[in-house]
Amino acid sequence: MQHWPIDGRPEIAFLGRSNVGKSSLLNSLLQRKGLARTSNTPGRTQSINFFLINESFYFVDLPGYGFAKVSKSMRSDWGKMAEEYLSQREQLALSIQLVDSRHKPSQLDLQLHEWLEFNQKDYLIVATKTDKLSSNELTKQIRLIETDMPESKIISYSAQSGKGRDSVWSAIAAALK
Ligand code: GTP
Ligand code: MG
Repeated sequence: MQHWPIDGRPEIAFLGRSNVGKSSLLNSLLQRKGLARTSNTPGRTQSINFFLINESFYFVDLPGYGFAKVSKSMRSDWGKMAEEYLSQREQLALSIQLVDSRHKPSQLDLQLHEWLEFNQKDYLIVATKTDKLSSNELTKQIRLIETDMPESKIISYSAQSGKGRDSVWSAIAAALK
């Protein structure tokens, strides 16, 4: 909490389960490989990291939820920290919820989604790792996500190819206006 910026610039938050690709999305949007640390080890990002972009707004990399190997007390710390951030942060301009395009959204994904809806947050769904699916499989998976998250804007993304980058940037620009 004491390390959160106090300059009032707007913030774009990246939310989703551990290993879903939050740090990779952030790096891919900025076309900077090593800015936010990515890893094969789930739970890599363990605190809230703020990245000042163009001196005008922040990307906020939140720790992933639902990482089975962290202790119970750490898991509830995540919940507390993230919920405190999401509910209290006046600068929060847009929440980007990431879901893995290869899977049906998990219980925790749905909980977060309901929370964003209930609290009337401005949010966007990004389906990650789409390069791992054929286009037929992707169409099928996006339908599954749409069923669970109706009326949400869903963007297919690949941090590997940069697919979806322009669409995500447009949504961010609109939120920052
Ligand atoms: P935590 O910080 O642990 O919460 O994880 P995270 O959500 O930040 O995930 P991260 O960006 O570290 O990515 C996890 C793994 O998925 C890494 O091995 C990435 O290289 C891989 N990955 C992320 N996005 C993509 C993608 O679009 N395509 C492919 N093929 N791999 C991806
Ligand atoms: Mg991360």
